Amino acid sequence: MECTVDIVKSGNIVSAMLPFDAREAFQIPRGSIYAQCEIGGTAFQAKLIARGNNRHCILFNRALLKRLGIEGEARGVLLRIEPRAAGEAPPGEAPAVLENETLGVIAARRSIRAFTGGPVGDDALETILRAGFNAPSASAKRPLHFMVSRDRAKLLWLMERGPYAKMLKNAAFCIAVGGDRVIQGMPEWLLADCGAATQNMLLAITSLGLGGCWCGVRQGTDFYKAIEEAFSLPGHIRPMALLAVGVPAEEKAPNDLYDAARVHREVW
Ligand SMILES: Cc1cc2nc3c(=O)[nH]c(=O)nc-3n(C[C@H](O)[C@H](O)[C@H](O)COP(=O)(O)O)c2cc1C
Repeated sequence: MECTVDIVKSGNIVSAMLPFDAREAFQIPRGSIYAQCEIGGTAFQAKLIARGNNRHCILFNRALLKRLGIEGEARGVLLRIEPRAAGEAPPGEAPAVLENETLGVIAARRSIRAFTGGPVGDDALETILRAGFNAPSASAKRPLHFMVSRDRAKLLWLMERGPYAKMLKNAAFCIAVGGDRVIQGMPEWLLADCGAATQNMLLAITSLGLGGCWCGVRQGTDFYKAIEEAFSLPGHIRPMALLAVGVPAEEKAPNDLYDAARVHREVW
């Protein structure tokens, strides 16, 4: 079927609302809806995202917009759309890149180092921490501790001791990610567990329309010692990362870093 859509941008997310009830039109009463789409002669596959009121939208990442030759927004675009089984590429066609909200957030996550200085509420903070705790951990040992500060003086004090943490100046808060080396005795796993939690929180931050930057914390550095001191950390907690979080004062294009030359199928 054919319809006309507006491709619009909201924060880092570019989407087009479908002007019809896709469940009814495609006779898919429940579950995910995948569609084969075409705009201006360019075919692509999309997972439809529910938006309430029996309405669905299509998300566009940077690579897809580039393929479609669309910069920013486009109104009154002719869309051909048919239902399609998930992951099913027509014979002879390269696998399509599937789109959904989560994949959009993963691409949209960028290191934001300029903040307005505006406030970020506790709802957002708790949501971000929850995402961190939901990360995988080796042997499900969950060695995580999160140290939060909204204290401007403390943020500036930490900033002075972190050569690559200047963005703390206007951050709304910071979250230091610490690992309990007694609970997780293997240093490699401690690092991996903290990394997974840090990335989960960065994705949550992006999904909320906020900005965040991962500040590296190397053992033995002044920054490492400053975090230990700022939060009075006990000796068995090893700070691994510090997140600066705030209202973004810069906008960055989503990542599109797929590198086919670095994908090794079956053998190197
Ligand atoms: C382990 C690690 C340590 C990092 N440390 C810092 C840091 O100290 N300061 C900083 O500004 N960015 C830091 N970054 C962010 C990287 O510079 C950033 O991810 C990279 O430039 C790619 O940009 P993007 O995040 O916008 O995709 C760190 C990232 C990682 C994964």
